[in-house]
Amino acid sequence: MLSLKNKTAVITGGGSGIGKAISQLFAKQGAAVHIIELTAEAGQQAAEEIKAEGGNATVHACNVADHQQVLSVFEKIGSVNILVNNAGIAHVGKADTTAEEDFDRVVNVNVKGVYNCLFAAIPKMKAAGGGVILNMASIAALVGIPDRFVYSTAKGAVKAMTMSVAKDYLADNIRCNSVSPARVHTPFVDGFLQKNYPDNIEEMFDKLSKTQPIGRMGLPSEVATLALYLCSDEAAFITGCDYPIDGGFTTLNN
Ligand SMILES: NC(=O)c1ccc[n+]([C@@H]2O[C@H](COP(=O)([O-])OP(=O)(O)OC[C@H]3O[C@@H](n4cnc5c(N)ncnc54)[C@H](O)[C@@H]3O)[C@@H](O)[C@H]2O)c1
Repeated sequence: MLSLKNKTAVITGGGSGIGKAISQLFAKQGAAVHIIELTAEAGQQAAEEIKAEGGNATVHACNVADHQQVLSVFEKIGSVNILVNNAGIAHVGKADTTAEEDFDRVVNVNVKGVYNCLFAAIPKMKAAGGGVILNMASIAALVGIPDRFVYSTAKGAVKAMTMSVAKDYLADNIRCNSVSPARVHTPFVDGFLQKNYPDNIEEMFDKLSKTQPIGRMGLPSEVATLALYLCSDEAAFITGCDYPIDGGFTTLNN
């Protein structure tokens, strides 16, 4: 069950948090993992840890927002069976407090970065007779979250891109789904608290934990397990869907 033997999987942002957990689990299940990372040292560290466990991992230093960089990385990778568009950045602000450069930065990474990797990977999947794509959306794509204007904008786009791609490549045997986590405890969350609430980190951590009705944040490994299922042959009947993984956030917060 859930074997990825003989599959090549590309995971963006695989050097940290959710992407690192996905890279580790996919390698454990037999995939040859290619980590695309802006932070080369973090990617290298993740790849070393995977190799130490007997897995197969290669790291590519690359900014997913840069079209040419992405094309040349995929050129090196060769055939691709699985693409996980996970790399993403956060931002806090409303429409009238989000500076233009912040809007552009978040959209460039969280939306254009996904497009860049789709553009590079899909022709390879078509040539190989099929493939699987998993995009990292967020509950911010599903419900109104305060102070997340551009982040919500970008994740809403990711969810819509997922359906568009799923529809366009049905005949090419390419499946495309997304997952929408609520708060998951990763360096992304720690960095967010450090930057925005440096004076009351513990209080905010507790508050953020309790916004999930289940009473805690998710674990990167829990998101990785869902990602594994959706990218496996066992999920062959699933395409064009978004899967919340949110401790009840979207349906039980009433
Ligand atoms: N942690 C959460 O609570 C949460 C909730 C919902 C959705 N998400 C989404 O999950 C994804 C991963 O989040 P995480 O919490 O693991 O974050 P993280 O910050 O721990 O890891 C993200 C990784 O992506 C890399 N990255 C960032 N920009 C990049 C770029 N331009 N090119 C290549 N790599 C880049 C970073 O270097 C980092 O290693 C993101 O898309 C995020 O929006 C996270």
